[in-house]
Amino acid sequence: MPSFTNYHQPYEAAWRHFFFERARWDPSRPATVVEVGSYEGSSAFWIMQNLLHSPESRLYCLDAWADGDGGDERFQLFLKNIGELPGRSQIEVLRGWSHQALRVLLNRGVRADVLYIDGGHDAPTVLRDLVTGFDLVRPGGVVICDDYLWDDPKWGGGRTLGRPKIALDAFTTIFADKLKIQRGLPNTQVFFQKLAD
Ligand SMILES: C[S@@+](CC[C@H](N)C(=O)[O-])C[C@H]1O[C@@H](n2cnc3c(N)ncnc32)[C@H](O)[C@@H]1O
Repeated sequence: MPSFTNYHQPYEAAWRHFFFERARWDPSRPATVVEVGSYEGSSAFWIMQNLLHSPESRLYCLDAWADGDGGDERFQLFLKNIGELPGRSQIEVLRGWSHQALRVLLNRGVRADVLYIDGGHDAPTVLRDLVTGFDLVRPGGVVICDDYLWDDPKWGGGRTLGRPKIALDAFTTIFADKLKIQRGLPNTQVFFQKLAD
């Protein structure tokens, strides 16, 4: 059994609704998912178990696992957890800062059907992940960004620039012609579809 803090559990119902009722997602179809912020593996686990059943599917897990975020110990726990998945060989782990790891994937020509952003929560990091990560997503693909309304002062969320909201508002406003926000989902996360490169 995997042993992780299940950060993904509160979102499972919305993800199920979005993927299986709105997007008519077929898990047997080969697909590529890029996840920014993997922590102990709960969202990666859900994505593999629910969205990626084809042996040709790929999940890229990007996380720094820096010292302030649990470092090597948390990284080893993540590896142990995802090691329990039958599709482990379909997961590539890129340990490093997200803006650099996203560029590695861009330079390799990776195109994503889904980009999940749940890494650094301060506005500059979220904006950089959105701008860089958007180029990875295929037109028709989806971006999900976590913690739109998060504001925990304990982790720097006491300041406007310490939270994701202003970055998401700026990005979705400036790129409005290239995306379509999915309305009617819980507003703790923002889902949008990419319309054009
Ligand atoms: C909220 S956790 C992710 C939770 C995970 N998605 C889950 O559902 O279990 C955020 C993660 O982002 C990582 N992180 C924070 N800032 C980052 C950055 N700039 N680049 C890469 N990883 C980062 C942290 O190491 C942490 O593991």
